Amino acid sequence: MLSNPKSQFLQYLAQTSPEPMALEIASANGNYLYDSTGKAYLDLIAGISVCNIGHQHPQVISAVEEQLHKHLHVMVYGEVVQSKQSEYGKSLVDILPESLNNVYFTNSGAEAIDAAMKLAKRVTGKWGFVAQTQAYHGSTQGPLSLMSDAYFTDPYKPLLGSVYFINQNDTNSLANIPWEKIAGVVVELIQAEKGTTEASVSFLSKLRTLCDEHCVLLIFDEIQTGFGRTGALFAFQHYQIIPDILVLGKALGGGLPMGAMVAGKHLMQQFSYNPVLGHITTFGGHPLSAAAGNAALNVLLSEINLVDVQQKGSLFKQLLNHPEIHSVDGIGLLLSVKLSSSEKVIQLIRKLLNRGIFTDWFLFAADRFRICPPLTITEEEIRNCCQVILEELNFINAN
Ligand SMILES: Cc1ncc(COP(=O)(O)O)c(C=O)c1O
Repeated sequence: MLSNPKSQFLQYLAQTSPEPMALEIASANGNYLYDSTGKAYLDLIAGISVCNIGHQHPQVISAVEEQLHKHLHVMVYGEVVQSKQSEYGKSLVDILPESLNNVYFTNSGAEAIDAAMKLAKRVTGKWGFVAQTQAYHGSTQGPLSLMSDAYFTDPYKPLLGSVYFINQNDTNSLANIPWEKIAGVVVELIQAEKGTTEASVSFLSKLRTLCDEHCVLLIFDEIQTGFGRTGALFAFQHYQIIPDILVLGKALGGGLPMGAMVAGKHLMQQFSYNPVLGHITTFGGHPLSAAAGNAALNVLLSEINLVDVQQKGSLFKQLLNHPEIHSVDGIGLLLSVKLSSSEKVIQLIRKLLNRGIFTDWFLFAADRFRICPPLTITEEEIRNCCQVILEELNFINAN
């Protein structure tokens, strides 16, 4: 019998890669993870943009504890009033533009993208989609259909047909899209897994105009960019362009699982008739997740200065100056650091782990490592961790 948690992990849990990191996390607090020996790791991943306000924030813990003693799951989403869901729906609508005034909570980001695709088909009566190359919208079959990379999709085909791929900021390619067939355009404003590449204002404006002209829903996937990550509450605020559907996830749940799509009530209502139950989900908007998410949002609004988030990102960019570093890209604390090869990235990630810094690579940019810490990371922690990164790069380059 295997009693060691790492052996149990390798033996009993399905693996998604041949060599998982397999760092055994015993606890987490603030900006740090702790392994089973008590060693601390500065968290440069934040659960991939989930733990934006840091780990174990006392207000989130007490909101979860309070709800825990009232009720857990009672009924599928949408049939009974669960106060935490309704409160959180209101909190979200309060901070969003007027046209985004109705929330549908799901279990995950992928489910929310899937539901957004369904809503776009329902509203427009069309079935095609436009998506960006090297975007990531989730691993279930709807979002997977929006993935351009054949390596990840070919073994699962046939997926949804009629998906047209465009490159980020390639405005010319938009002329070739058969808009009369398109229900929705799904966009990551900052393509996180491509290595944090930003959309241009002109590209997004063009998309907004084309969607309006051709009765197409513009869908922004802010699952990774939302909740302060880029130095604005939501990345679309940098552009002043408002989508028809905003899709949220990750930090939305304050550390518990949750996704959501937010749209106008007149659109969302179409899920309630002809047929009824247009999208249904048992656990969507679970009361514990709603309590945690709402508490985390309150903390974000009251304790995190978004200008500081931008300045912290700039400090990383300023300090990470080294011949091995080709560029530091991204915005706010959604950053990627490009090295000369993916091998060097792997070497560096291992060395940083030894030095108590936890980072990883990107799905479509293996020659980059991630800097996506809790937004609460301090200036001193940034300075110390950049110092360690530069020392380790010196070592790698000298050997
Ligand atoms: C931009 C983006 N969209 C969608 C998803 C899918 O979210 P989930 O893993 O909750 O299904 C992710 C997850 O990494 C993501 O980064």
